[in-house]
Amino acid sequence: MITETTAFDLSRRNTFRLPAKCAAYVEVTSPEDLLGIDFDSLPQPVKVIGGGSNLLLTGDFPGTMLHCDIRGIDPLEEDVKKEGDIHVMVGAGESFDSFCQWAAGRGLWGVENLSLIPGEAGAAAYQNIGAYGVEAADVVVRINAFDRASGKMAVLYPEDCDYGYRDSMFKHSGGRYIITSVVYRLSTLPSARLGYGGVRGRVEQYLSMNPDESLTPSLVRGIIISIRSEKLPPVEEVGSAGSFFCNPVVPRCHYERIVEKEGTQVPHYDLPGDMVKIPAAWMIERCAFKGVCRGGAQVCPTQPLVIINRTGEATAGDILSLEEDITKAVFERFGIQLHPEVEHI
Ligand code: EPU
Repeated sequence: MITETTAFDLSRRNTFRLPAKCAAYVEVTSPEDLLGIDFDSLPQPVKVIGGGSNLLLTGDFPGTMLHCDIRGIDPLEEDVKKEGDIHVMVGAGESFDSFCQWAAGRGLWGVENLSLIPGEAGAAAYQNIGAYGVEAADVVVRINAFDRASGKMAVLYPEDCDYGYRDSMFKHSGGRYIITSVVYRLSTLPSARLGYGGVRGRVEQYLSMNPDESLTPSLVRGIIISIRSEKLPPVEEVGSAGSFFCNPVVPRCHYERIVEKEGTQVPHYDLPGDMVKIPAAWMIERCAFKGVCRGGAQVCPTQPLVIINRTGEATAGDILSLEEDITKAVFERFGIQLHPEVEHI
């Protein structure tokens, strides 16, 4: 266990690469480490940090940042499973993409669509990451966590987690649970999910050009990686926190008013209950924010849902100024309040 109680530099711990410090930093490498921590003696509040890939650090943090650097990708033989299922326990600090690579390399289905999402396996279950029609909640079997309320380890099941779009009970529990590992469900049975956007077309095109190959998790992973790489700059090179805003969900009548007012087709996804999801990227582009800069920050020219630290010198103020202007412009034009997907600290 590492504990630093002097100002700790977080600039390498957030993928926006923003300069910020926390009063204390604690890194644990096992669940037992957590049982031994006297939380009351640490600078408050205590906040768990994962890969820092969904954070906007708006300034120095007066409390303690706690990182669970618990590793391991271990198939569980003893779990009772459906035919073809493989349950795998993944340490909270393991890179989620390493897990996706591990699964694809073994021909196991389930997380190939989530390839290349930055961040760690614990945070994936915490915030219910999603991409290309798949969410973490689809593959979570159970979550092992330290419960700060009881001071003991707890096991949580998806029904305890109140999962929604990029949302879960964990986000609203006031930091009660510290996830130590997640058991994810993979399958040996073919279960490709190609329904989102252009994924199926890309897969079919690839297979027609490579007739000796077949549909495997590795192939889908490769296609997802190439789609993502075309639109999203790698966080190792250009600071960002992925999608900055959530895609809003509105009643159908609101969507129809937008179609009428804009006089054009509006991309959308029909949802149950006569609700419609409209891509925030489309609205941001319509408001002419694609590529717009404030200081060192820029609305990503290839995917306007993402704000990037273009120069490497962006400040939280630059990003907050873009957020404010985009939110205002989208509200004025479409009557829709955008909400950030990135957590502000
Ligand atoms: N669009 C535009 N202009 C653009 C780009 C996109 O109008 O320049 C419109 C298009 O209509 C496009 C639609 O936006 O069809 C959707 O774009 P995309 O498929 O790139 O996805 P997104 O809705 O912008 C979401 C997730 C991403 C995830 C992708 C793919 C959220 C907040 N974001 O983005 O997740 O990778 O779908 O599934 O739901 C993340 O959460 O950090 C993230 C990157």
